[in-house]
Amino acid sequence: MINMLLIQGIDYNKCSECGSCVASCTAKLYSETDDKDKVYVFNNPHGVCVKCGHCIAVCPDEAILFEHEDPAFNFKGTKKLPDIVSYGDLMKILRMRRSIRVYKDKPVPEKKLEKVLQAMRYAPTASNRENWRITVVTNRKEIEYLSKESTKDLKLAKKLLPLRYLALPFLSPALRKRAIDPRTEVILDRELGALEKGEDIVFFNAPCVLILYARPYTSNMAANDAGVVITHGMLAAQALGLGTCWIGIAQRIFAKKRIRKHFKVPKGYEVYGVITLGEPDIEYQRAPPRRAVRVQRMD
Ligand SMILES: Cc1cc2nc3c(=O)[nH]c(=O)nc-3n(C[C@H](O)[C@H](O)[C@H](O)COP(=O)(O)O)c2cc1C
Repeated sequence: MINMLLIQGIDYNKCSECGSCVASCTAKLYSETDDKDKVYVFNNPHGVCVKCGHCIAVCPDEAILFEHEDPAFNFKGTKKLPDIVSYGDLMKILRMRRSIRVYKDKPVPEKKLEKVLQAMRYAPTASNRENWRITVVTNRKEIEYLSKESTKDLKLAKKLLPLRYLALPFLSPALRKRAIDPRTEVILDRELGALEKGEDIVFFNAPCVLILYARPYTSNMAANDAGVVITHGMLAAQALGLGTCWIGIAQRIFAKKRIRKHFKVPKGYEVYGVITLGEPDIEYQRAPPRRAVRVQRMD
């Protein structure tokens, strides 16, 4: 069985000629024929099918022939979405999610880890590319290594800070802004102080770290895909009693080839997300306030 969708055509013994395959296919690969036995036909001569599976998903007759190791999930007998989770309950789920920075010293059960990965699997991706991959790190030494590498530059930054005004013309606009921000030194001192005490300020001693990588493609879409995939994983983790935190500070250092090589990120791939996973050792009592949506309407 294959891990990539292959549409093989229509089972005419089942097809009731409703035309929903034609309506659902954005690549226009289904069309009408003059053949009275085959009202619709599937044709993919240039291989432009994006393998989205919408034809399989929409067909009321289960008449689309395909090959994939993942059987289609049939909605028959399943409640309609608003009856599974109401908007109010969904809002609770969304608002009760927190970035977790305190973890129990316990490994993530394999079954729960697998469930988180399965939730990520069903995230949408641009043009249905599904091109992301993931590395699960549970080896404590490897997590420590990544943590240390992520904070390696802090000492250097502290040393260079007094010289910042000399370096300003050579810095990128973003770095320039940070260099002259008086809070930078305060944050650096706090972080270096915590590191001196042996604290893991990157992963918060989480027992598991997920590294998501993908091949970059059009307009940074791989980064957008990663955001959706990771959000799926975060929400699933929450439903399993686990906590997560997106760790941009660790994601950043994958710009270094040496780090990509160490974590076996294949050539041509980039890291688009790093998150912690583990059992929270903290309980939140309420959701913090958030800014109102700044919305512009064009009615
Ligand atoms: C892209 C991204 C990168 C982040 N990087 C870090 C990080 O490096 N370290 C950290 O402690 N939190 C990180 N966070 C967590 C945010 O600080 C957190 O989401 C935010 O403060 C809101 O808190 P909440 O997630 O509990 O709602 C990151 C979040 C996102 C979405």
